[in-house]
Amino acid sequence: MKILYVASEVTPFSKTGGLGDVAGALPAALASLGHDVKVVSPRYASVQDARLTPTGHSLELRFPFGTERGPILSLRAAPNLELLFLEHEGYYGRGGLYGDQAGEFGDNHRRYAYLSLGALQACQRLDFTPDILHVNDWQTGLLPVAHKRGFLGTALGRSKSVLTIHNLAYQGQFNKQIMPELGLPWDLFNAEQGLEFYDGVNFLKGGIQFCDALTTVSPTYAREIQAPEAGANLDGLLRRRQDVLSGILNGIDVEEWNPEADPHLPARYGPEDLTGKEACRRELLERFGLAPTDAPVFGIVSRLAWQKGVDLLLEVLPGVLEQGIRFVAVGSGEGRYVDGLQALQARFPGRVGTFIGFDAGLSHLVEAGADFFLMPSRYEPCGLNQMYSLRYGTVPVVRATGGLADTVREGPEGNGLVFHDFHPDALRAAIDRARALYADSQRLRAFQRRGMGQDFSWSGSARKYERLFASLLSE
Ligand code: ADP
Ligand code: GLC
Repeated sequence: MKILYVASEVTPFSKTGGLGDVAGALPAALASLGHDVKVVSPRYASVQDARLTPTGHSLELRFPFGTERGPILSLRAAPNLELLFLEHEGYYGRGGLYGDQAGEFGDNHRRYAYLSLGALQACQRLDFTPDILHVNDWQTGLLPVAHKRGFLGTALGRSKSVLTIHNLAYQGQFNKQIMPELGLPWDLFNAEQGLEFYDGVNFLKGGIQFCDALTTVSPTYAREIQAPEAGANLDGLLRRRQDVLSGILNGIDVEEWNPEADPHLPARYGPEDLTGKEACRRELLERFGLAPTDAPVFGIVSRLAWQKGVDLLLEVLPGVLEQGIRFVAVGSGEGRYVDGLQALQARFPGRVGTFIGFDAGLSHLVEAGADFFLMPSRYEPCGLNQMYSLRYGTVPVVRATGGLADTVREGPEGNGLVFHDFHPDALRAAIDRARALYADSQRLRAFQRRGMGQDFSWSGSARKYERLFASLLSE
């Protein structure tokens, strides 16, 4: 199959969260199954690589406000895997992907209209006729709309579009003034079959309405978003589209996340011999200015957002820190959580270490050096960190929601600690069970071994996408 994969971030070139990781790994997994895959993404300022070469082709997109042009750059990652970066200094040359300290960028509708329509036009320019258009999240929501409505001619008319929802809470909502601004026909401004959402425009909704198939990143999240609680006001529409909606669990990049060959670690280790994990633990404590200790070390690496339950953590941690545990946090995001973490560190010097910012190397060290990894999420479409943790022998402590419920289980054959209610007592009890597990080294080893022995590689999930694509093409 010929597959076009469009995403607003691609690891290792650009990343704010798990979407980047998925876009960096799934296309490669599909390519290794023998498909011809092209990935389209913006060339942000962070996209610097000596292998980038001009394709000699440029985009030219005519909007009512003017014609936007920019070159298409290429990076061939494998004979049948090409990454195409859309360069546009005005849109993508600034720092930050979706926003900065001041908030979301005010021209995101133009920036991601350029990505969505540009990806279609890039196919035409490069004479690539995909069978499948696989798009991701709101930033690419206009692509299925444009594809179905034939905005850019009919060359791609026979291909099928698949939209993957990585996070339903981010929808790309704009004032209706952007309809004429982007040249979107007014008949699309309707709530039943178009992009209208509470008198505004909703890019994700457009994608959901017009795609041929819809996926989310775990089976549990696929069910959850069809109910009001996690449905973000789109649950009705998702129920209407349930025939084409499925959940396919994300995999992880087992080369990037491999404790046996991780360049970010002071020592390496595997399931047979965890000795190297000790050195990682020592280094982690040292990096955060904490003295060596026998107490269990709990870690987080997270976007500091409402979704992640940082507030619940901040409520529960003082009590458990009194009992001696250590806590390290790597995160960036909302000021209220940054302040909360820094206040916690000030209150428990020597027990709490924080790094506020984005640091890939440090995130690997936390995964390797901590004893437990905390994910008390309010909701979690998939979550990758719990899978990284399992692979690194770091026992996850998670709330049973979305992909966390699909990957972590407690019990005699468990791989982690699981709690259900989003309530301090439930999290506290799970941390207490983690401490008890830590005190029982044999049982702890068994948990670690089971986690490290699981296969979270992309191969299984890539096959599921392949089957979905094939079924669409046989319709
Ligand atoms: P989400 O996509 O909702 O943020 P995931 O668990 O799917 O959650 O993926 C988060 C990814 O982003 C992981 O690879 C994690 O290590 C990484 N990450 C999040 N915050 C940071 C940070 N401050 N520094 C480095 N990596 C981070
Ligand atoms: C989103 C979700 C996260 C998921 C990631 C990759 O950012 O919040 O749960 O793992 O996308 O699909």
